[in-house]
Amino acid sequence: MTHGGLKMRFNGTTRVNEKGHLEIGGCDCVELAREFGTPLYVLDEECFRQNCREYRRFFMEKYGADVVYAGKTLLNMAVCRIVANEGLGLDVGSGGELYTALKAGFPAERIFFHGNNKSPEELAMAIENGVGRIMADNMHELELLNGLAGGNGKKVPVIIRVTPGIEAHTHEYIKTGQIDSKFGLVIENGQAMAGVKRALELDNIDFKGLHCHIGSQIFELDSYCHAAAVMLSFVRMVYEETGCTIGELDLGGGLGVYYVEGDRPPLIRDYADAVMGAVIENALKQGTPVPRVIVEPGRSISGPAGTTLYTVGAVKEIPGVRKYVTVDGGMGDNPRPALYQARYEACLANKAATPPQETVSIAGKYCESGDMLIWDIRLPSAAPGDILAVSCTGAYNYSMSMNYNRLPRPAMVLVNGGGAALINRRESFHDLVKNDIIPERLAAN
Ligand code: LLP
Repeated sequence: MTHGGLKMRFNGTTRVNEKGHLEIGGCDCVELAREFGTPLYVLDEECFRQNCREYRRFFMEKYGADVVYAGKTLLNMAVCRIVANEGLGLDVGSGGELYTALKAGFPAERIFFHGNNKSPEELAMAIENGVGRIMADNMHELELLNGLAGGNGKKVPVIIRVTPGIEAHTHEYIKTGQIDSKFGLVIENGQAMAGVKRALELDNIDFKGLHCHIGSQIFELDSYCHAAAVMLSFVRMVYEETGCTIGELDLGGGLGVYYVEGDRPPLIRDYADAVMGAVIENALKQGTPVPRVIVEPGRSISGPAGTTLYTVGAVKEIPGVRKYVTVDGGMGDNPRPALYQARYEACLANKAATPPQETVSIAGKYCESGDMLIWDIRLPSAAPGDILAVSCTGAYNYSMSMNYNRLPRPAMVLVNGGGAALINRRESFHDLVKNDIIPERLAAN
């Protein structure tokens, strides 16, 4: 939905208030920028929870499937609390994500631990804390897990990640299901079967099932149906070769979201019906019991719930060429445009009711020509001090943020019902130097 000719679709509770300002979670974005400073990540709690609830309703309640939120898209302790409270599981991809979840009191048995090169320390941490499922990405990890669990006197619940050879129609860099991938054991060449057989042999491995993930920002539900067909035929092969019936089938995440005009993401309910329909149909076709299905959505939960606020600084017009509107953040808080040519929509939060007047390009403040957040966007005339709001920045923004140029990472606020709570403090200059050490011999001179 666009508002007053504005070139930005409003997600969740976003609207224009009586002052003509952008409002999220009942909070005036201009006030938020004043109170918390910019750049500022604003997380719409209602929108985030609503997305969790859709997954719960259409996968868990309707089909008895499990939903595991992909923490790599956006994770901090407050988000862990919300996810736990909404009854979803959590997919963590590193010791750091696992630590965050445990520290926030997330139930360990609902945590799925991913990653293609988990260290012995990370695996030990997962085993000691009784994580629900550990995804084994390769043979090395299987053996490591078996050894570590043996020492611990525990049997670890393991899911094996396989590569089904599906090419999801998405950006090249975020395709992960094709055969030539660093993730998972390939079905086609027998490596996946060898992995399953090894897992069944190992004393300390409790082999639970299979996993695949075919990519991210996917709009074609067919890709999922195709993946389900390949996976179920592999389930059948496993049964024939080993007598083992696969109990769990994790089909990963990847559902796309709306970023800019022309993006047409499927609804969560249609995604659920397509995936579950394909699993049930293919299980019947293969004559195997329908496994417990797990999905791992990230972006489609957190993405639309996030908005980033920036303050406009320098406005530079190169006559006859382009007008650059520079903001106080950029590729450090949102590396996606620079990394993937990702596109975003935006509006001026303090002029949200004003119709667009000009075409400008939004530049960041990092020392890099590629630090452009948005090319050619229609906005009301922008001046220093205006607040720019970029929508749909909840996923892979904060989680992929960096300190290039030693710029501190932004703060994040959780907004709901007119209240705003800080959930990530803004980094300080002190934070930037806190791990720096001047060796004695340099300190002396
Ligand atoms: N499960 C696994 C095993 C994954 O690797 C991923 C994402 C997900 C679930 C969640 O996928 P989602 O529902 O969020 O699409 N940084 C890139 C995306 C990388 C995706 C990594 N894996 C971006 O900003 O577009």
